[in-house]
Amino acid sequence: MIKPHGSDTLNSLLITDNDKLQQLLTEAESLPSLLLNSAAAANAVMMGGGYFNPLKGYMNLADSLSVAENLHTQDGLFWPVPVVNLVKDVSAIEGASRIALRDPNTEGNPVMAIMNVTAIETVTDAQINGMAEQIFATLDLQHPGVATFTGLGNHLVSGDIQVLSLSYFQADFPDTFRTAGEIRDEIAQRGWKKVVAFQTRNPMHRAHEELCHMAMERLGADGVVVHMLLGKLKQGDIPASVREDCIRKMVELYFPANSVMVTGYGFDMLYAGPREALLHAVFRQNMGCTHLIVGRDHAGVGDYYGAFDAQTIFADKVPTDALEIEIFNADHTAFSKKLGRVVMMNEAEDHIKDDFILLSGTKVRQMLGDGIAPPPEFSRPEVAKILMDYYQLDSA
Ligand code: ADX
Repeated sequence: MIKPHGSDTLNSLLITDNDKLQQLLTEAESLPSLLLNSAAAANAVMMGGGYFNPLKGYMNLADSLSVAENLHTQDGLFWPVPVVNLVKDVSAIEGASRIALRDPNTEGNPVMAIMNVTAIETVTDAQINGMAEQIFATLDLQHPGVATFTGLGNHLVSGDIQVLSLSYFQADFPDTFRTAGEIRDEIAQRGWKKVVAFQTRNPMHRAHEELCHMAMERLGADGVVVHMLLGKLKQGDIPASVREDCIRKMVELYFPANSVMVTGYGFDMLYAGPREALLHAVFRQNMGCTHLIVGRDHAGVGDYYGAFDAQTIFADKVPTDALEIEIFNADHTAFSKKLGRVVMMNEAEDHIKDDFILLSGTKVRQMLGDGIAPPPEFSRPEVAKILMDYYQLDSA
């Protein structure tokens, strides 16, 4: 099976031995504690789940600056986005060497990790803005990722962690949430060798479905791992439980049995476009996939990125030996009225724009909000029904 990123075996930071877990939970009660923001909590979930292998904890300032600028840690590890614990107020943990990190997304804020603090550093606004601009390619506060990142705080708390819980994800998404190790195990059990990962934060429409079919066929893959984002999204995006239902229904009806694993991960969407695509590749390699689909405006938002910047960055910025996973680049896919099926637009030579059914995500959300089902050329009717039911309930 494909090796994890940066090491021979997957190193999960989650404590699974029950005695050890109880011992650490007891210890945590007597430690100074820090309530994490959601971004830092999401980083802990990803580290606990093995997705951020080989990292052992939150990055210090030198590594964060280096990753933002050069896509490498100071030790030379390829890494696309700083993995930080930026904090507004560190008065409760000043001088502490071991602290409890508390979960902001679970009632009662239980301890989710213990950290050996190696440094608490002050980050200037100029450094925060510099990193934001390198990660997101903009400093516009209308960009949801920039607004989040620049508002996290100016104290960087770094050090190795032991993860004690994966937040609410296992309880809320028992069928779908998986750690990278669990996905590796299932891929091995199924005997899949060539495995395509599909990143998504949407209910899967026909363009998404067809991308998976095309990648499977063209690569001669054994299966697809649909890997949906289960963490926080910007306002207006569709909740994870609804997307989960849509995706399961579509897979059940429109894919051959046993060709797709429907899975999810607990991370907040960054909307960092090309940089996030690189991060996606790193953690899909960690979960054992040999290929990642990158289509149009991957992990993008608004008009901040060129439609295919998330593809070109792999050639432009990733040293040849940095990643083993390969990218399946896809052109804009859309339903052709002439051919009666979804195609890659650059492969439909004799077509003009009007020959395709093109709907933006915003337009579709508007239609659903108005009680209008998206057309069957855009969404499978069974998927459209789930979305309509949700929007109707939501507006009731
Ligand atoms: S994302 O933020 O998770 O990338 P989304 O769930 O819409 O958003 O997209 C998942 C994947 O499908 C990404 O690789 C994206 O580039 C690709 N994709 C979505 N829609 C299209 C389309 N119409 N044509 C080509 N690729 C697409």
